[in-house]
Amino acid sequence: MFDLPAQRAHLSEKYDLTPSPELAAGMSDIYDRMSRVVSPVDWAIYAPYVKAINDLKAQRNAVILGHNYMTPEIYHGVSDFVGDSLQLAIKATEVEADVIVQCGVHFMAETSKILSPEKTVLMPDMEAGCSLAESITAEGIAEMRRRYPGAPVVSYVNTTAEVKAASDICCTSSNAAQIVAAQDNHTVIMTPDQYLAQNVARDVPQKNVVWWEGSCIVHEQYSPQDLRDFREWNPGTRLIAHPECPPDVVAEADYSGSTSGIIKYVTDEKPEKALLITECSMASNIADQLPEVEFVGPCNMCPYMKKITLEKVLFALDTMTGQVEVDAEVAEKARLSVQRMIDLSRQLGI
Ligand code: 13P
Ligand code: SF4
Repeated sequence: MFDLPAQRAHLSEKYDLTPSPELAAGMSDIYDRMSRVVSPVDWAIYAPYVKAINDLKAQRNAVILGHNYMTPEIYHGVSDFVGDSLQLAIKATEVEADVIVQCGVHFMAETSKILSPEKTVLMPDMEAGCSLAESITAEGIAEMRRRYPGAPVVSYVNTTAEVKAASDICCTSSNAAQIVAAQDNHTVIMTPDQYLAQNVARDVPQKNVVWWEGSCIVHEQYSPQDLRDFREWNPGTRLIAHPECPPDVVAEADYSGSTSGIIKYVTDEKPEKALLITECSMASNIADQLPEVEFVGPCNMCPYMKKITLEKVLFALDTMTGQVEVDAEVAEKARLSVQRMIDLSRQLGI
């Protein structure tokens, strides 16, 4: 558990974190990337943290990997690389820093540690979990193997290291259909996201896809009726859904793809109005680079992703706390599943 008052006391002794319009004005190059969604008053509050974190990164030879669901001040202010789960996993194998700070959720930090065991991987809040990762254990994988003998197990990266170690190969939302299609067996087990699996089953009809019953608490909340109502009330809006949404929701959307797929779609298409059926920060992070697009409608917040704040990132880097460790034997097996996914994705040109 975090002792926030103690953290704050520690930080205020070492850093001047007083809101500063002058400092904020001097960092306008960063602010320009989020000025549509972050007020000048909030930027004056964030700027001292952003400066302190960026200075500390240089001292520690650290890089920050920021997921597309991070808030704009983290995404634009301190992240060295941003992207979806696949892009961040690949980046973890490429960066030369001594320290990786994972601004995302715990399974992402574990993936970085599995791929770069020699690096220190910091998680600003260890409680930033994921409902999908929590839905299955290695015993669940064994149960699926008993139910479907001989079928390969394709596990979403949103899983623990133990689950990855018990699987044959991983996938993310940007390569799931291709990874499943590339399996030799007719029956393929997908865990733990039932909806991603059902969306893949529709796109890869030549396979018998069977699944675990996990789901994402952010994307399962949407219903097809929500989308139909929205279209009726807001004609002309492009509806864009993440494939963790149930298939009847995806069927109502104009496009479905990974978080980076969504960014690419909106950037290429530049619809007049867009509703992103996914986590709230997605639209905020691309609002400034796409001034011609009006982002409308409801979004859902991931309570896990939102545990990551500038304050916690600064504390983790300052004290080098929140180090992610993975048992060496588990990591070796898990690495095989993740590396197979990365190799196959490269081979398939994803
Ligand atoms: P992406 O791989 O599309 O970024 O999605 C991962 C995810 O679950 C974020 O919650
Ligand atoms: Fe997990 Fe869903 Fe949050 Fe992604 S959005 S981290 S899948 S709970």
